[in-house]
Amino acid sequence: MADDRLYFRQLLSGRDFAATDMIAAQMRNFAYLIGDRQTGDAVVVDPAYAAGDLVDALEADGMHLSGVLVTHHHPDHVGGSMMGFELKGLAELLERVSVPVHVNKHEADWVSRITGIPLTDLTSHDHGDKVSVGDVEIELLHTPGHTPGSQCFLLDGRLVAGDTLFLEGCGRTDFPGGDVDDMFRSLQALAQLQGDPTVFPGHWYSAEPSAALSEVRRTNYVYRASNLDQWRMLMGA
Ligand SMILES: [Fe+2]
Repeated sequence: MADDRLYFRQLLSGRDFAATDMIAAQMRNFAYLIGDRQTGDAVVVDPAYAAGDLVDALEADGMHLSGVLVTHHHPDHVGGSMMGFELKGLAELLERVSVPVHVNKHEADWVSRITGIPLTDLTSHDHGDKVSVGDVEIELLHTPGHTPGSQCFLLDGRLVAGDTLFLEGCGRTDFPGGDVDDMFRSLQALAQLQGDPTVFPGHWYSAEPSAALSEVRRTNYVYRASNLDQWRMLMGA
């Protein structure tokens, strides 16, 4: 797709949106806006804080919201209660606009439970499904390990990696539903992606906010393990 047609923004919580929210600033989450400038359709990835800000941001760019993509169910990605606070997230967003919410089928129950959104209002997907946003095609990759139904999004030379792969490290596997062995397999699968996509993580835990997958493979310690035994040792499992 022509570069001027793809709409893609990386927004940091507590800075680019939810600027007055201390939790948002502390958690350093990235939300993403992805769309087609020609049709004006756009989706938001992981609206956990100040969902109104995210909708305002894309509308200020002349876009309209046509859906939500969810990487996984944790409250800093979809809203819900965290550290004694109630993040309105996705539920608040759906009060403003009614759009499909795309989740992996293994994550749907968890997302529903944590956000209070009925299961029937979620669109469940398999690995390899595609969501079209205007002419932008986004492939959904099931990458369990951080949670059972974690998913990453692949589009036009970009990998939106949620909490599966950070530029340094990967998501924790010791929360409910996490699985060390699944994480190894998911990280290995991402490493095999063709075309050296740019990795856009779910949190800003590194110097740079994004990097080429080849660079991440070279520098990220999670790629030092080449088999499951090494991986389990590395992770202390
Ligand atoms: Fe998470």
